[in-house]
Amino acid sequence: MVSTYRSRRVGPLNGAISPPGDKSVSHRALILGGLAEGTTTITGLLEADDVLRTASCVRGFGAAVERQGEGSWTVTGASWSSPAQALYCGNSGTGARLLMGAAAGQGVSVTFDGDQSLRGRPMERILAPLREMGIESDAREGKLPVRLVGGRPRGIEYRLPKPSAQIKSAVLLAGLGAEGETVIEEPVPCRDHTERMLPQFGGRLTIEPLGGGGRRLRLPGAQRLTAGGIVPVPGDPSSAAFPLAAAAIVDGSVVTLRGVMTNPHRTGFFEALSAMGADLSTVPVGGEEGEAIADLTLRYAPLTAIHITADKAPGLIDEYPILCVVAAFAAGTSRFDGLGELRVKESDRLAATAALLRANGVDVRTGEDWIEIDGGRPGGGGAVATHHDHRIAMSALVMGMATAAPVTIDDADMIATSFPGFIDLMNGLGAAIEPMATEGG
Ligand code: S3P
Repeated sequence: MVSTYRSRRVGPLNGAISPPGDKSVSHRALILGGLAEGTTTITGLLEADDVLRTASCVRGFGAAVERQGEGSWTVTGASWSSPAQALYCGNSGTGARLLMGAAAGQGVSVTFDGDQSLRGRPMERILAPLREMGIESDAREGKLPVRLVGGRPRGIEYRLPKPSAQIKSAVLLAGLGAEGETVIEEPVPCRDHTERMLPQFGGRLTIEPLGGGGRRLRLPGAQRLTAGGIVPVPGDPSSAAFPLAAAAIVDGSVVTLRGVMTNPHRTGFFEALSAMGADLSTVPVGGEEGEAIADLTLRYAPLTAIHITADKAPGLIDEYPILCVVAAFAAGTSRFDGLGELRVKESDRLAATAALLRANGVDVRTGEDWIEIDGGRPGGGGAVATHHDHRIAMSALVMGMATAAPVTIDDADMIATSFPGFIDLMNGLGAAIEPMATEGG
């Protein structure tokens, strides 16, 4: 069954909402909880497909993972054992890559698999450092299904080949069970949720500055983690981006997002909106010890184009599709560089975003790792192919709220991988997103 949806132009959006829990933090809380001795309580967990897959994989290694109530979960860690069957990570690259690192650290043998999109995504970036650590694997062309062969990893010195928190976290998680110290050099810093969460589980890690803004992480081997007490998951800035973007392009809107994580490696989209002229205010509301949290209010104001250089890309890597939609409404030509990683996300997001904009009357130019967008007043009316990518689907629906003609998407189901309830939440703010005829069901 295919669920096609249409989003049409609306008047001002108004209201205050809380975005769902952060996806990156949710995966990490489940994995670290599964490795730790004792019971950890997670509150505000993102109950979306990607994270639920990680929960069942953690269970597959022998930990007890139980839902206690809405967003409230307990994880009782165990000494990990090799699962008899392949573990299925669904659509989740983060789940698969972090779990590979954690499994390697625990010396278990395991096969990971995923859906069609995940089977097309590169895993060699994880298997290469794991091989250096002495962990053998079997994968066809570096893609899922991947079989890891259990063994004791050894600590390595590893320089991240790209600013990827998934690679960094996989090596850290493997290093927890390694013989000897693991040292990671991160020339361009990227999201640091694993580093921030580890101490709560009794994990030891030191962080030193590296010239040019980078960092060196030192993780002692053979660590036994202890339960993390209560781990609250803050609101996901990558999900908050969609209602904020909607308010930024629908004239007269005022929208507040409550309890959003403002980790400095995740705020690039908010900074971009402000640089474009959006009236965005941030009120810190806590979380000083782990992840910072704030309430964000966006009041519509006319936008102008911006240029974002490659060095800034890691800070908003997941937000480029929706930022490109916002840029389509900003006066002038916007340019975003350093987007090579978008080619290997849930879809080829650079191509999918360019097609989304073109289908709705926007002039766009792209190269291998950049995009240029001529902003103005897009007419809309496009039928957008989502390529089963949640962020492409949500970006297109947001666009339709401000275009003259409605925007249609071919499938809204994948939105549930990261933002369950997105459509109801947006309609509650004043959007008009409606299902169309369904096919094949
Ligand atoms: C994530 C890291 C990023 C991001 C992904 C989540 C994480 O991927 O795009 O959605 O939780 O570590 P990369 O590590 O591939 O940059």
